[in-house]
Amino acid sequence: MTIYLDNAATSFPKPPHSLERVFEALKKGVGTPGRGRHFTSKKANDAVQDIRKRIANFFGLFDDFRSVFTYSATDALNLAIKGFLRDGDHVIISGMEHNSVLRPLKGLERQGKITLDIAPCDEKGYLKMDEFLRCFKDNTRLVIISHASNVTGAVQPIEQIAAEVHKRDAFLLVDAAQTAGVLPIHMAEQNIDMLVYAGHKGLFGLQGTGGLLIGESVVGIKPWREGGTGFDSKSELQPLNWPEAFEAGTHNVPGILSLNEGLNFIEEAGIEKIAEREMEHLRYLWKKLKSNEYIKLYGPAPDEERVAVLSFTIEGWDTEDIGNILDQNYGISVRTGLHCAPLAHKTIGTYPNGTIRVSPGYFTTQEELKAFLKAIDNITSIKVGWY
Ligand SMILES: Cc1ncc(COP(=O)(O)O)c(C=O)c1O
Repeated sequence: MTIYLDNAATSFPKPPHSLERVFEALKKGVGTPGRGRHFTSKKANDAVQDIRKRIANFFGLFDDFRSVFTYSATDALNLAIKGFLRDGDHVIISGMEHNSVLRPLKGLERQGKITLDIAPCDEKGYLKMDEFLRCFKDNTRLVIISHASNVTGAVQPIEQIAAEVHKRDAFLLVDAAQTAGVLPIHMAEQNIDMLVYAGHKGLFGLQGTGGLLIGESVVGIKPWREGGTGFDSKSELQPLNWPEAFEAGTHNVPGILSLNEGLNFIEEAGIEKIAEREMEHLRYLWKKLKSNEYIKLYGPAPDEERVAVLSFTIEGWDTEDIGNILDQNYGISVRTGLHCAPLAHKTIGTYPNGTIRVSPGYFTTQEELKAFLKAIDNITSIKVGWY
């Protein structure tokens, strides 16, 4: 049996009975939302609209037509970036961003459409506020910040950043891939203009789920993916009605149903309880790993603003080798290397080898953590290349 400690990539296991309930719905027949007048299509459509509303409420967004389903956080980030930016805009991102933010922006920069500044972060991953403020220009229109880093777990002060962004008449897009379902997020109270979530991590949905929530401050965003929407089929051009304009193609209905189950679980368990349990795991791992003289830990200490994503390196060892040994000799899954976030590793000084990242989840047990720590102790007792 695998010990799964890679919840920052995708959460596993999913809550008890959630997959069974999705499977039961599929067995009864699930149609394509908005694509027919028959019962199964209408039923699927009603379910999708209810869950859309539920997601909007969950994140403090009042208009459900501004809650867009996508196939991943990456898909949502592409929509927000390519749909919102105009030629000549200047964009600021933090030095901890994921490639799903960096790559679309670098592409637009190469095409000469936008200019981009990367605001530095400290070695824990926190934004350096003074340097961030110095990045603003007259044409700065968008700031993109990861709520929590997928490498160090550092949580950025979103309200403070939002206040600075709005003082300068720009918009704030928050990448909540690592925090949705783990930290309370309220777009209206935190003054977030656009929010991206991954459905398959802290929200306990299936892979192939994510979304973009477009705040009331944002108008004029253009669809990125074009095609069939079930609406206005005579039109040769993508229709403009929200949210259908942004959701071309058949919805991932099983995934959306699984998001509903994920929300049921989060509301029953309580988001604070989920966060506390994950942080309990983090504190335990931090304390034990810190006492090993061959291990270097990265990121904020457990009592700082952070989530339970922990990066470390082992003296004398390649990170990928550790990943392979843990997998093959111990049946333990962790993620090693650059975690699709080379910027973050440059910031914390671990580029190009990266780190070993352990990310326990709500369902991780103390026994699993003990087995992981024992494996690490065994590995560090082997002295590679030492004489
Ligand atoms: C901070 C951050 N942003 C974006 C993504 C991309 O998420 P997805 O895999 O849903 O596209 C991830 C995934 O690991 C992430 O950690």
